[in-house]
Amino acid sequence: MSSMQAAEEKARRMPRMPRRKLDHIPGDYGKPVIGDTFQFLRDFQGLMEEKAAKYGPVFKGSIMFQHGVTLVGPDANAFVLRDRDHIFSSRLAWNPLLDKLFTDGLMLRDFSNHKYHRRIMQQAFKKNALAGYMERMNPHIAEGIQQWPEGKEFSFFESIKSLLLNMGAGIFLGLEMGEEARKVNEAFVAEVDASLAVLRLPIPGTTWHRGMKGRRFLERFMKDLIPEKRNSSDQDFFTELCQAADEETDTQLTDQDVVNHMIFLLFAAHDTTTSTLSSIVYALAKNPEWQEALAQEAESLGKDELDYDDLQKLEKATWVFREALRMHPPLPTIPRRTIEETEWQGYKIPENTLVNVVPLHTHYMSEYWSNPYTFDPERFSSERAEDKGHHFQWIPFGGGHHKCLGINFAEIQSKTFLFHFLRQYRVSVKPGYEMQYQQVPLAVPKDGLPITIEKR
Ligand code: HEM
Repeated sequence: MSSMQAAEEKARRMPRMPRRKLDHIPGDYGKPVIGDTFQFLRDFQGLMEEKAAKYGPVFKGSIMFQHGVTLVGPDANAFVLRDRDHIFSSRLAWNPLLDKLFTDGLMLRDFSNHKYHRRIMQQAFKKNALAGYMERMNPHIAEGIQQWPEGKEFSFFESIKSLLLNMGAGIFLGLEMGEEARKVNEAFVAEVDASLAVLRLPIPGTTWHRGMKGRRFLERFMKDLIPEKRNSSDQDFFTELCQAADEETDTQLTDQDVVNHMIFLLFAAHDTTTSTLSSIVYALAKNPEWQEALAQEAESLGKDELDYDDLQKLEKATWVFREALRMHPPLPTIPRRTIEETEWQGYKIPENTLVNVVPLHTHYMSEYWSNPYTFDPERFSSERAEDKGHHFQWIPFGGGHHKCLGINFAEIQSKTFLFHFLRQYRVSVKPGYEMQYQQVPLAVPKDGLPITIEKR
């Protein structure tokens, strides 16, 4: 048995969430019972800064009724996410939140099993496949933003969410707009909403009950389509996954695996991209000189649709995309659970301990970033290359074994949106407006980001 298989076996046998003795680790558990949960929900970044300043780069804490250890800084990110010794389980950390709704999604798999599934899924993210998805994106976005009201305030967050949702039905599942796509989107939204539900009992009328019903609907819907998709020539994620085969073992995903991966993919792509585009559009509204620079860059291509080969020509859009993700990583913290005792910076971390790394904290460390609270996309230019100091200092997409599979897709989607949006419109926010973020579990604007657009 390989060390990866042994690690996987061990992770499967781990009891769920025991309480480990962490007395020897600096830190505190906050208030009785609730720990630091309130501050975690109110100001996660502030909480991390306070604790790191008080206790240093390794500290224990208690959030959402779970005791755990936080490791801060790029070296810690590399240690946990690269996981050279197969010690950190992703499944055990994410499962309590996600396993019923997003069963056996890629992020909820570990070690050798994860490696096998990731290898197959990567085929749906290869250049040809991505170029195919991009072709569908252009007209969808161009038409979608035509419907947005000019000269009066509206919620960017709600509008982009619904645009991406409708587009997702096409790109992910190959559906045309209509009643079927509407039902699928409704089921999916119910499922995503349920992932945040505190009460998780099958009581009719509750968010949880609606979410589980949504999942059952999606499972049935997708399973019925699989035989057709296994032989189709459509260009969508669903078709790609149905037809992908593992080159090493010459095996394909089972029907149930395809369904599980598709449902997880929809989830992984949806809120993260809406979050990112909200951060970008907010920054552009506050920094009109960057808005103009990106509009000119888009215009300089001299065409009405963006092609795959144009992507790297949009250099300034790349910097803005990266800077927005630095300042507001959609996933501010990434959890793992140890399956063996390990040691970091002289502290022993026991087996079965929740361990968190914190992109949001790393992205503001003044050792790595100049004026980290300032929006400064040029820090990513090749002349300044501030992000190149440490491989794990810019980690909005995580890193190592579970590094986001959708990085390129997310960049394509964001750039294609910006290309159409900025060639059409100027965007503004009210004078003095500052967007308030809800940071956890995902970075989203608390007020939906009210914007106004005017035709150029
Ligand atoms: C800007 C948008 C996005 C951000 C910031 C983001 C962030 C992340 C992060 C931090 C992880 C790693 C979680 C962990 O290690 O526990 C992850 C994993 C993943 N993401 Fe993304 N994501 C984005 C968009 C997408 C999109 C568009 C897709 C699919 C089309 C996607 C698919 C996935 C998948 C499948 C995984 C699991 C990878 C694995 O476990 O091997 N993501 N993402």
